[in-house]
Amino acid sequence: GGHGGRTKLPFKPITPVAATEDTFVVPQGYIWEPIIRWGDPILPGGVPFDVAAQSAAKQELAFGYNNDYTDIIVTNRAGTKALLCCNHEYVNAEIMFPPDLATEEQLKIAMAAHGFAIVELERSAPGEKWSYVPSAPKNRRITASTPFEITGPAAGSDLLKTKADPTGTVALGTIGNCSGGTTPWGTILSGEENFNGYFRADGTAPEGKRYGLSDGESSYGWEAIEPRFDARTPDYANEPNRFGYIVEIDPTDPTSTPRKHTSLGRLKHEGANVVIADSGHVVAYTGDDERFDYLYKFVSKGRYNKHNRRKNLDLLTEGDLYVARFHGDSPEAEIDGTGKLPSDGKFDGYGQWIPLVKNGRSKVSGMSVEEVLVHTRLAADKAGATKMDRCEDVQPSPTTGKVYVACTNNTDRGKDGKAGPVEPNPRNANKDGHIVEIVEDDGDHTSRVFRWNLVIVAGDPTAEGTYFAGYPKDKVSPISCPDNLAFDSEGNLWISTDGQPDSIGLCDGLFKVPLEGRERGHVQQFLSVPREAETCGPVVHDKDGSVFVAVQHPGEDGSWNDQHSQFPDYVDGTAAKGEFAGPRPSIVQVFKK
Ligand code: FEO
Ligand code: CA
Ligand code: CA
Ligand code: CA
Repeated sequence: GGHGGRTKLPFKPITPVAATEDTFVVPQGYIWEPIIRWGDPILPGGVPFDVAAQSAAKQELAFGYNNDYTDIIVTNRAGTKALLCCNHEYVNAEIMFPPDLATEEQLKIAMAAHGFAIVELERSAPGEKWSYVPSAPKNRRITASTPFEITGPAAGSDLLKTKADPTGTVALGTIGNCSGGTTPWGTILSGEENFNGYFRADGTAPEGKRYGLSDGESSYGWEAIEPRFDARTPDYANEPNRFGYIVEIDPTDPTSTPRKHTSLGRLKHEGANVVIADSGHVVAYTGDDERFDYLYKFVSKGRYNKHNRRKNLDLLTEGDLYVARFHGDSPEAEIDGTGKLPSDGKFDGYGQWIPLVKNGRSKVSGMSVEEVLVHTRLAADKAGATKMDRCEDVQPSPTTGKVYVACTNNTDRGKDGKAGPVEPNPRNANKDGHIVEIVEDDGDHTSRVFRWNLVIVAGDPTAEGTYFAGYPKDKVSPISCPDNLAFDSEGNLWISTDGQPDSIGLCDGLFKVPLEGRERGHVQQFLSVPREAETCGPVVHDKDGSVFVAVQHPGEDGSWNDQHSQFPDYVDGTAAKGEFAGPRPSIVQVFKK
């Protein structure tokens, strides 16, 4: 498959939408509708959302804010029931709270609006639209206060102990959850990304600085109501070490304890995607989304057994951790920072996976296994990993096994004192990002070496230094800042973007691009999200004729009195008393008319 000619989701690319427009646009012949919005009640006792009467108690029973990683897992043979699984990365307090709402209550609501949601869906028949089921048995909210079990070699380490948890094995809550992945055994992985913004810290320790921890009020201010977010005190100096992991949640069991896996390292994890190698070992690819940070791979010690789900639930607790080193095959002088192709016509080369932890031992001199897994960025610095242009989603193709890495952008590349252009990150001041295609040696996901090439060097196709696998540029949609990735059943890549308003003056969107055959590189825009929103999810059920996206932070640059978006309920700025004229982050379904 993968030639893109027989798709069950045919569409004519939409016209790109100017960044100032507050509108949700789908192709001709399709319609869109929200499934669930911030504040919609999902648990027993929940009440309909009322922006003027918010409370933490209500938020704990309701869908959270700023949904990012999303999956919709169909659970019955008839295709009429499903689990919506989605995380809640952060909040936009300045547009969600009426100014007269007490500050302490705002902080508590914010904590309750973070984390994760699992919600049962139902529909009358395949191809029809989904509705969510309030108070269904599997519905669940995980918040910034929910206990998580810490697993793996660093669990119980002195680096993870705090006054409240002298065992170093139970962390409260998950925060900054960005992208994620669904495992072959039906659990959800989610990456704790920008956790540093939640802490006030000493600000001088190199281990903290490397993760952006600093002394100064935190971005969210939670230290005002919970001492653990003030890491300047000896009691909670280690609290930030308990965030920055891949978390795993079993959506089929609402009583299960979610877990944080130290074996995949601590970084600003964008997400993680799992593939089963031919040997049965489970391989997870994960990126660190920070300028000049790294790409990682985990290989499990145990092997996948489709008849033993209980054992599969432990596969991510033990294994080897690697970081990527890329080598270009063109002369350095030909990588001039403009994106001009080198004389061999490709940004390409080979790469190595450098071990950080192998067979339970540290491979980094001067660091213990616990230190490598908690201060992973410092270990990777020592290992000589390649500084990337912000690795976001990393996704293996289910049809070819090739692995795709969305490097979203890096406007600091080539600046004074910063790393300059290299073949895998060839543009200075890279505002548009690129996509790396990795082919593991012999197609073996556990391999130590790989080949790579840049399949897309993104941007306005009329601009110099863009590349779409050689596809005619006048036929591709403009695309910038690739972020989350997904595949359809034919192996086409779907790319959602985050940052187009700033880079190319367009609203963010969702794009399809075939990867094989004559259509390789033919980027086509499927939808566009409202003003100041980022496109997340995405979920492509092409056999069902439907696509789902999480619309994150619509109208985020507005204020309570100057809302920039009214998505998804668009009341034309003339909201009747009691109606909310601001935005509500939502999960949207797009299906055929
Ligand atoms: Fe939350 Fe890396 O985007
Ligand atoms: Ca080359
Ligand atoms: Ca992201
Ligand atoms: Ca992003």
